[in-house]
Amino acid sequence: TGLVTFDPGFNSTAACASEITYIDGDAGILRYRGYPIDQLAEKSSFLEVSYLLIYGELPTQAQLDSFTNRISRHTLLHEDLKRFFDGFPRDAHPMPVLSSAVSALSTFYQDSLDPFDEDAVELSTVRLLAKVFTIAAYAYKKSVGQPFLYPDNSLGLVENFLRMTFGFPAEPYDIDPDFARALDTLLILHADHEQNCSTSTVRLVGSSQANLFASISAGINALFGPLHGGANQAVLEMLQRIRDVEEGNVDAFVERVKNKEKGARLMGFGHRVYKNYDPRARIVKQSADEVLKKLGVSDPLLDIAKALEEKALADDYFVERKLYPNVDFYTGVIYRAMGFPTKMFTVLFALGRLPGWIAHWREMMNDPQNKIGRPRQLYTGPAERDYLSMEKR
Ligand code: CMC
Repeated sequence: TGLVTFDPGFNSTAACASEITYIDGDAGILRYRGYPIDQLAEKSSFLEVSYLLIYGELPTQAQLDSFTNRISRHTLLHEDLKRFFDGFPRDAHPMPVLSSAVSALSTFYQDSLDPFDEDAVELSTVRLLAKVFTIAAYAYKKSVGQPFLYPDNSLGLVENFLRMTFGFPAEPYDIDPDFARALDTLLILHADHEQNCSTSTVRLVGSSQANLFASISAGINALFGPLHGGANQAVLEMLQRIRDVEEGNVDAFVERVKNKEKGARLMGFGHRVYKNYDPRARIVKQSADEVLKKLGVSDPLLDIAKALEEKALADDYFVERKLYPNVDFYTGVIYRAMGFPTKMFTVLFALGRLPGWIAHWREMMNDPQNKIGRPRQLYTGPAERDYLSMEKR
């Protein structure tokens, strides 16, 4: 009862107050805990940003060292969890593998699931940040039929992930510091984005006092959709289709998008909040050029992406609707140059978004105003009617 506001897609409903991330969509501003995204991308590291998002302040050297050490002690997966991967088909998409394995963490750590026990939450936080990188690398290894590598805790989180992903047990893996740095920066750019679909999912599930692993697993599934994190995979598939099926004809593709043929969208374009530009996309575009140059790769897909962007930005359809490239538009080209298969792109997004999800879940659990999430509806079904026996239907 009472007044119900109809707001499909939550365009204008704030479901919580939050101190974590500030976005001004008209001005193209994104800040984590007050710090501008471009400064963090240039000067910080993914673990430092994770600390900032979760605990609210940049760490001192001692705090960062302690955080890093704690995480590096939890990178191993339980041997039984490792066997989990055997049960999936070889061609399984790594996103549901990731969400399933994260969900399964609730079964391995049953002693630390109380959402109001601070020590337990702290332990779950560190376990997640460590283990999700190992799970992601194993999901990849499984998909290519290669042996799993145990983590090497003398390495940093991102370096360890690269080694577990691309290395082999029989030989040393040379980590290219520029490569690791480029991936670290991409993780920073994805680390939080206030009440997006997956973060809202984490909050909604957590609002029932579900544990951290259960809530994050739900967030990973929300991220999988092509309108959200799955867009990075969809962008690359779109670029490949334009190259292979449409002979590189960008104009014809854009026309089909404008005519909304079969619901066609320019993937990697548009955003619910950014109506001027996405500050992350600007950094990613520059990074795409640098990474490809550094790796000595020239990729016609990057040229197609640039031609698409140029065409769209000059077209009334996109201008009127304030559609600009978003963070997903150029990331796929970089991941591809780094050697990740297309199916892994959204997993990389999940790795980046993890500290944001954790920060929001913890903020909510500590918020005295928190209530179970329970939207209302406008009922549009039939009025009361009498049950019909089978022969009368
Ligand atoms: N290509 C073509 N037309 C579009 C696009 C697009 N990418 N995005 C929006 N439009 C049109 C849409 O058809 C509608 O037109 P009309 O008024 O004629 O019906 C208008 O623009 C408004 O779109 P909307 O769907 O009401 O906007 P929204 O805020 O509900 O959706 C969005 C935001 C990101 C889901 C949408 O822009 C989209 O589907 N983009 C492509 C998928 C994508 O790149 N997603 C990644 C988002 S950023 C990172 C992340 O969250 O993962």
